[in-house]
Amino acid sequence: MAGQKKLLRALAGEKQDVPPIWMMRQAGRYLPEYRATRAEAGDFLSLCYNSDLAAEVTLQPIRRYGFDAAILFADILLIPQALGADLWFVTGEGPRLSTITTEADFAKLGPASDIHETLNPIYETVRILSRELPSETTLIGFAGAPWTVATYMIAGRGTPDQGPAHALREENTALFEALLARITEATIDYLSKQIEAGAEVVKIFDSWAGSLKGEAFQKYALEPCRQITAALKERHPGIPVIGFPREAGEKYVGFAKATGVDCVALDNSVDPEWAAANVQVDGCVQGNLASRHMVTGGQDLVDDTRRIVEAFKNGPHIFNLGHGITPDADPDNVQLMIDTVRGG
Ligand code: CP3
Repeated sequence: MAGQKKLLRALAGEKQDVPPIWMMRQAGRYLPEYRATRAEAGDFLSLCYNSDLAAEVTLQPIRRYGFDAAILFADILLIPQALGADLWFVTGEGPRLSTITTEADFAKLGPASDIHETLNPIYETVRILSRELPSETTLIGFAGAPWTVATYMIAGRGTPDQGPAHALREENTALFEALLARITEATIDYLSKQIEAGAEVVKIFDSWAGSLKGEAFQKYALEPCRQITAALKERHPGIPVIGFPREAGEKYVGFAKATGVDCVALDNSVDPEWAAANVQVDGCVQGNLASRHMVTGGQDLVDDTRRIVEAFKNGPHIFNLGHGITPDADPDNVQLMIDTVRGG
């Protein structure tokens, strides 16, 4: 595997003395250069759909820090928009969407095959990036997992406990499952186009997987991830997939085998030593430093970073945070994390 990019080597199962490193939300508001480009675009969604500017913000953290991977700049909620939902962002509060709670709401959505008209600028961003990224940097495409995307489509916003989505799941299971199936189909097509445009890896973000318990986790988190992974690998043999069933806890165990993903991304609620013994035994893991260290810095950051590198050193590992970096983070703390991972 000599000559291959560091991130791809980890995904192929190789353990490395220095793990590859990137960060969720690495293009974001903690960076002054991101804030400047976002102001130029006008608002967040305009930035997502402006291929040149979206490529520019994707490249900013690569130039500043030399991460081993760049993640396409876009959002998981572009799929609902491409299916016909209204989407807007309220500054300081987050996303808002038209809600889906009845068959009539669902009937207004378009077919999965119609999404590309809206999403073509995203594929163009991927094409620009695959030309412009340094040769050692891996390009990651992504989408939200069907359950997580559905929680926003049903409630029309982010919710602390995904209550409206759980209610629909129990009260109108057929409608809930039809919505999940539509999102799954659209997600396969969307990720497939990203791969055709140059994405070398794709990641499936299931941020709210942890609120699905027992059989519901199997049906609505694990099974859609398995379907998406299988379809992508059939269309694009060898494409590596990272799954992120956030807050899955004990259910991280066996997730890679059951879904076929090449790597399981871990949030920071699980101990790295436990995850090494129970999850990394099946293959590559990604994570799992607490994002708060990017705000607080200091010796605690260094100690926890070293602990994670040490815990995962006997198998394939991609260093990352347990969730996205927050806008109040200090860019110097990111450098300290990278220096600690690369310099020991
Ligand atoms: O990681 C990256 O740098 C790639 C780009 C990316 C964004 N969102 C950009 C973004 C990715 C992978 C996402 C995923 C995403 N989006 C998730 C799953 C991961 C997670 O964080 O749990 C979710 C749930 C969303 C939906 C979403 N988008 C919310 C809830 C918000 C508002 C919260 C916030 O941070 O303000 C967004 C906005 C968003 N997506 C921003 C960015 C950089 C901030 C927008 C801004 O510039 O104002």
